[in-house]
Amino acid sequence: MDSDKELKQVAQEVAVCTKCKLYHSRKLAVAGEGPTNASIMFIGEGPGFHENEQGRPFVGAAGKLLEELLGTIGMQRTQVFITNIVKCRPPGNRDPEPEEIQACDSYLERQIQAINPRVIVTLGRYSMGKFMPNAKISVIHGQAMRIKGRLIVAMYHPAAALHQRSLLSVIQDDFAHLPELLSQADQVIDQSEETNSNPPPKDSATQLNLF
Ligand code: URA
Ligand code: SF4
Repeated sequence: MDSDKELKQVAQEVAVCTKCKLYHSRKLAVAGEGPTNASIMFIGEGPGFHENEQGRPFVGAAGKLLEELLGTIGMQRTQVFITNIVKCRPPGNRDPEPEEIQACDSYLERQIQAINPRVIVTLGRYSMGKFMPNAKISVIHGQAMRIKGRLIVAMYHPAAALHQRSLLSVIQDDFAHLPELLSQADQVIDQSEETNSNPPPKDSATQLNLF
């Protein structure tokens, strides 16, 4: 299917989805937003209070910081695709449960397929867990990993920096490396495909030496 149509289709399905119990507490589902040809896709945790009210991702304080961080690398939020690991707000902003993440995963997978971003940036531990279940954010944040043919960079959630100011410079530094990583992403994927005729095992995570 045409990628634009597929993204719209996902949003329509999410709006009326009842695949997990989070549909009970949502006001508006938050499918995500951004251009279909975005080169960067950000995956956060789940809608909070404001997102649930407005049906848009990252519109609260964490979103403001995300926009500021994008600004430091000369980008605007309208240039990137922003979504979450679960599309409906967990009650009281509790953590999403494994069954909820699992139930919602096919929507995220379809969005990744449709957008085919050069880099996926996970924000926080739940979206990191989708790609690197056993990774420690304090160890691997900011590093480019090649997982199932995709470049994934795990970063701290912007809300974490708002609660713990010492993390702000860590996130800023990880963002500062994004442009370099983007410009090298195609090259790195090409090279690894040339030198590696067998696809990597499904759960393999290879760290790339980009810097
Ligand atoms: N935090 C998230 O993880 N996602 C949002 O959409 C907003 C805040
Ligand atoms: Fe459906 Fe995802 Fe919302 Fe659960 S969180 S009801 S799976 S859209």
